[in-house]
Amino acid sequence: MYQTLFFFIALGTVFQLSCGTQVNVTKDDKLCLFANLTLHFSVSYGVTGNKSQTVAFELPENVTTDGSTCDAEKSTLKLNFGEGHSLSADFVANGKSYHADTITFIYNLNDSTLFNNSVSEEPVTVKVELQSTGVAMDTCYSCHSEETIQADSVNMTMWNVLIQAFVSNGSKSEQITSCAADTPTPAPTPAANTTTPAPVTNTTSTAPPPPPTTTPTPPLPTPQTGNYSVTLTNQSEACLLANFGLRIGYKQGGKYEEVNFEPNGTQIFGLCGVNSSELMLESGPVTLVFTFTNDTKKFRLHALNVTVKTSSGSVFFETNTSLSLWEASLGSSYMCNKEQNVTINEELTLLTFNVRVQPFGVKKGLFSTAEDCQADVESFLVPIAVGVALLVLILIVLLAYFIGRKRNMATGYESFS
Ligand SMILES: *[C@@H]1O[C@H](CO)[C@@H](O)[C@H](O)[C@H]1NC(C)=O
Ligand SMILES: *[C@@H]1O[C@H](CO)[C@@H](O)[C@H](O)[C@H]1NC(C)=O
Ligand SMILES: *[C@@H]1O[C@H](CO)[C@@H](O)[C@H](O)[C@H]1NC(C)=O
Ligand SMILES: *[C@@H]1O[C@H](CO)[C@@H](O)[C@H](O)[C@H]1NC(C)=O
Ligand SMILES: *[C@@H]1O[C@H](CO)[C@@H](O)[C@H](O)[C@H]1NC(C)=O
Ligand SMILES: *[C@@H]1O[C@H](CO)[C@@H](O)[C@H](O)[C@H]1NC(C)=O
Ligand SMILES: *[C@@H]1O[C@H](CO)[C@@H](O)[C@H](O)[C@H]1NC(C)=O
Ligand SMILES: *[C@@H]1O[C@H](CO)[C@@H](O)[C@H](O)[C@H]1NC(C)=O
Repeated sequence: MYQTLFFFIALGTVFQLSCGTQVNVTKDDKLCLFANLTLHFSVSYGVTGNKSQTVAFELPENVTTDGSTCDAEKSTLKLNFGEGHSLSADFVANGKSYHADTITFIYNLNDSTLFNNSVSEEPVTVKVELQSTGVAMDTCYSCHSEETIQADSVNMTMWNVLIQAFVSNGSKSEQITSCAADTPTPAPTPAANTTTPAPVTNTTSTAPPPPPTTTPTPPLPTPQTGNYSVTLTNQSEACLLANFGLRIGYKQGGKYEEVNFEPNGTQIFGLCGVNSSELMLESGPVTLVFTFTNDTKKFRLHALNVTVKTSSGSVFFETNTSLSLWEASLGSSYMCNKEQNVTINEELTLLTFNVRVQPFGVKKGLFSTAEDCQADVESFLVPIAVGVALLVLILIVLLAYFIGRKRNMATGYESFS
């Protein structure tokens, strides 16, 4: 018990001597792989007398990166140190993410400074296949917490890890994908790790990281405008037309997320009624159901159901069945080209672009005259402008009257004197 405690403290001091190993791998003079980590090895090896001995040492600050490679889909970080030892990690990129695939540790038992009294004098290769989830592309993998990789006769424990493979444009990303161990418990701070790191614990072999939930997402591009139409089976012409670009903003578990509705590959279903028409669009993770109503003079978007299958695997669903949006006279179409932020309910907002819809009375498959949302603003402004002009006119007339009157009075006084 005391022995282990002493061992821990001894390790703690060793760890404090170094502030990690930092390497930059370049290709064509540009940074392509970056790593900064503290790594501790524990190796057991055979000594004379059919016994085994365990030695602990740290990855030194001075390493060389000969043998490291950077390619489009596969990169290798190779750290060479001491007398013929090396640690290498293979990274694989697949589209939007990358992950560490294997770790290979080669230690040279001929190095008597580390492996005193070793029976063997041969290098030993330990290869570990990692079951790691992806790190978002163009982000750094960060893990302050300790991770241990266990293999036959070797334990590798690392912490304060910051790695970016597939660096683009020659500079390390400021964005971070954190490991699972860092995220859920903010209490045991990384500072605790740097001062008194608990040594090799019985955590299972882990490596790069968890769901990339903490990755700051880059801003979405403006959604593409899609053209959708509903044609009833026994008809030749469309009975409902809708064009728009759409971004859905939704809150789930208190977290605000946004997703663009991709027109590409959208499945369209719908029906056209006398009093009510429906448009259902399904694309990627998003399903939208628009319900339009006809109240004899006007039509409006009355109900909206939104379903989003989120990247975390859960399903977001919200509905509002008492909307009054996209309203225009029957026999015309509703149009709004400007960007509009529409609140559907507390959990759901829509950002719309280039909207033009006609859910009733479509003739020859074409939009009827548009009622523009911009025109509303103008028709509201025109009476004000006219009013203001009239007021100014009245003032001028009054002013002219009083001035004229004053003159007359003045001349009147003159004639009297
Ligand atoms: C070494 O130990 C193993 C089991 O631990 C045993 O099978 C083997 O015979 C021993 N060899 C010698 C030379 O003592
Ligand atoms: C690796 O860790 C396990 C679990 O703590 C331990 O049983 C084993 O002896 C360690 N191996 C080495 C080589 O330190
Ligand atoms: C590691 O932990 C698991 C459960 O937490 C336990 O079953 C196993 O015996 C432990 N292994 C070692 C080497 O301590
Ligand atoms: C649309 O999707 C097809 C395949 O589904 C793809 O080949 C095409 O590049 C996509 N177009 C756009 C603009 O995303
Ligand atoms: C549409 O609504 C009117 C009155 O609101 C009603 O008389 C008529 O039956 C309805 N038509 C259909 C097809 O539901
Ligand atoms: C929208 O969602 C509500 C609530 O689940 C449901 O009752 C309604 O039928 C849905 N509307 C459509 C058109 O799917
Ligand atoms: C839309 O409005 C909501 C609530 O006012 C806001 O949280 C959201 O950021 C807005 N979205 C955009 C893209 O402006
Ligand atoms: C709207 O509803 C009224 C009454 O239900 C109906 O007479 C009229 O034809 C409808 N208009 C359209 C364009 O479907």
